[in-house]
Amino acid sequence: MDTTALFKISYGLYVVGTKIDGKNAGCIVDAFIQSTSTPVPTVILCSINTNQTNAAIKQTKEFMISVLADNVDPFVIGNFGFQSGRDVDKWANVPFELVDELPVLEKASAYLRCKVTDTKELSTHTVFFCDVVDALQGDGESLIYGDYQKDMKPKTLEAFKKYKQSGKAPEPPAKWVCSVCGYVYTGDIPFEDLPEDWKCPKCGSPKSVFKKQ
Ligand SMILES: Cc1cc2nc3c(=O)[nH]c(=O)nc-3n(C[C@H](O)[C@H](O)[C@H](O)COP(=O)(O)O)c2cc1C
Repeated sequence: MDTTALFKISYGLYVVGTKIDGKNAGCIVDAFIQSTSTPVPTVILCSINTNQTNAAIKQTKEFMISVLADNVDPFVIGNFGFQSGRDVDKWANVPFELVDELPVLEKASAYLRCKVTDTKELSTHTVFFCDVVDALQGDGESLIYGDYQKDMKPKTLEAFKKYKQSGKAPEPPAKWVCSVCGYVYTGDIPFEDLPEDWKCPKCGSPKSVFKKQ
């Protein structure tokens, strides 16, 4: 059997954000799908039953999904997928926010809050059946799992190796904030490379009023 054929099934990559004993937890998953859209949107997550994230979801019965964007830093995938929250605070290594107490990536293409309604134990995995109780758009297009396998995996391995060797997570890119209206620049082009006549999309102020944070 050529199991690489399974890489051609089209789905995405997601960071699950949840809590265990009041602490942030979570991991990378691909086995996450929408199961219905009406009367309530529902989703299904298949989670390895020895992972901390699995124990956390069983404890709290809820989690947030950050849908990875196609320009995600490959380190994020290694950080959440190649190590356990039992050994390291993975959320401390990435820019994140708490949304109603649950951690989400600062940059994701969408966010879904999921409440577990049912579970099914398999030998190695737990299948969580969930209602989507909140959903928010983020920026950009979603990463496709096949593109991760094709293009991003070597970069992910490299970024994770660097992190393990240095013991330090990569510095997140600096934030540029409009000092007039508070707009935070989130574009793909580095702020420094924007043309000098670029203007704040929210209040029209010139590039020069932006401050680096
Ligand atoms: C690309 C990729 C996809 C993954 N997909 C899943 C998945 O669908 N379900 C799952 O439970 N774990 C999946 N994992 C594995 C977990 O992310 C990994 O075991 C993680 O270290 C668990 O961390 P935790 O102990 O903090 O929960 C995936 C890992 C990678 C790198």
